[in-house]
Amino acid sequence: VRAKLLGLPGSLRSNSNSLAVLRGLQGALPADVGMDIRDLRLPLYDQDIDGPDAPAEVHAFRQAIAEADGVVIVTPEYNYGMPGVLKNALDWASRPYGKSALIGKPVLVVSNSPAFTGGVRAHQQVNDTLLAVSADLVSGPQVVIGTVGEKIKDGKLVDEAVLKFTLGMVDKLIAAAGK
Ligand code: FNR
Repeated sequence: VRAKLLGLPGSLRSNSNSLAVLRGLQGALPADVGMDIRDLRLPLYDQDIDGPDAPAEVHAFRQAIAEADGVVIVTPEYNYGMPGVLKNALDWASRPYGKSALIGKPVLVVSNSPAFTGGVRAHQQVNDTLLAVSADLVSGPQVVIGTVGEKIKDGKLVDEAVLKFTLGMVDKLIAAAGK
């Protein structure tokens, strides 16, 4: 395997479009690139329970980021921003301060929405947070998927043009990882 990616959907619901986008990408990756998809069901961030005795699922989440060559975040937009679930997960991942698994980690951000606007405001917020945590944000044309419902079939992104465009940015992610 040339590169191992970690896909993180910003939505927990089982029928999530964001998850469907990740599944579509997963199925369209080059044969030597793998992607695990992990949901962001974590406790609410609480500095009182952070530290060596942090919940086991938090350790596992940080470990998954550390072991990935690159991370693909696919987020919806909630009320003109990123979902709390995603912000919560990024806050957990941003610690311990100065030793976070996100420091220098190549990350590609994709937003999506049933609306034309494609979740672009959530996209911007995720970029800002990744900047705060010193992640290696893959820059270039933003991957913003509007009217996403029309581009999904059987729980997977199937739109050829969107897949091609997004895979081009995944190539940049893999290059940023030095793979
Ligand atoms: C939304 N939705 C939404 N869409 C959007 O484009 N801009 C927005 O500000 C919002 N706000 C919003 C708030 C809340 C609380 C919910 C539940 C939904 C609609 C949203 O894009 C839609 O429900 C998506 O299907 C959610 O993403 P997943 O779960 O399909 O990945």
